[in-house]
Amino acid sequence: MLTMKDIVREGHPALREVAVEVSMPPTDEEKKTLQEMLEFLQNSQDEKVCAKYALRPGVGLAAPQLGIKKRMIAVHFEDDKGKLYSYGLFNPKIVSHSVEQAYLREGEGCLSVDRAVEGFVPRHARITLKAIDLDGNPVKLRLRDYAAIVLQHEVDHLNGIMFYDHINKENPYKIPEDAKPIH
Ligand code: NI
Repeated sequence: MLTMKDIVREGHPALREVAVEVSMPPTDEEKKTLQEMLEFLQNSQDEKVCAKYALRPGVGLAAPQLGIKKRMIAVHFEDDKGKLYSYGLFNPKIVSHSVEQAYLREGEGCLSVDRAVEGFVPRHARITLKAIDLDGNPVKLRLRDYAAIVLQHEVDHLNGIMFYDHINKENPYKIPEDAKPIH
């Protein structure tokens, strides 16, 4: 199983590179890695497993965070309505997005960032994302608010972008234009 020692932190070059597409169908090794990424998130949200292995709870993980420069992400969380989003995704692509923006009131965090970074991170309030799931099936997800934010954070990792790159440098708490607060 993956633990915190498998996760690379700020300063690792893989976090700043553009990851490459995974050729379809994925290899068994690629599928295994993606499955393990999803399991890490599930473990990190299980109080006992989390404590036993000193994990940091997370809702999303991208392959570059393991030093693997491939377009693979995993997410595991529930939205405000209790709907579960639990996916391992190959080659996720945001195919459309709203003009309206959204931001998390408490800011964002990242398993590769061992410090609190203050400020609002502007995101699209709604996105449509296409990808291939762990079973090899194409999926098209229409996401809004918290779910849209989590997926944008993870897709950013595939393009070498960290969440704090989006924070206004002069005024980290500047309310993004046409944006609604989430949570
Ligand atoms: Ni992150």
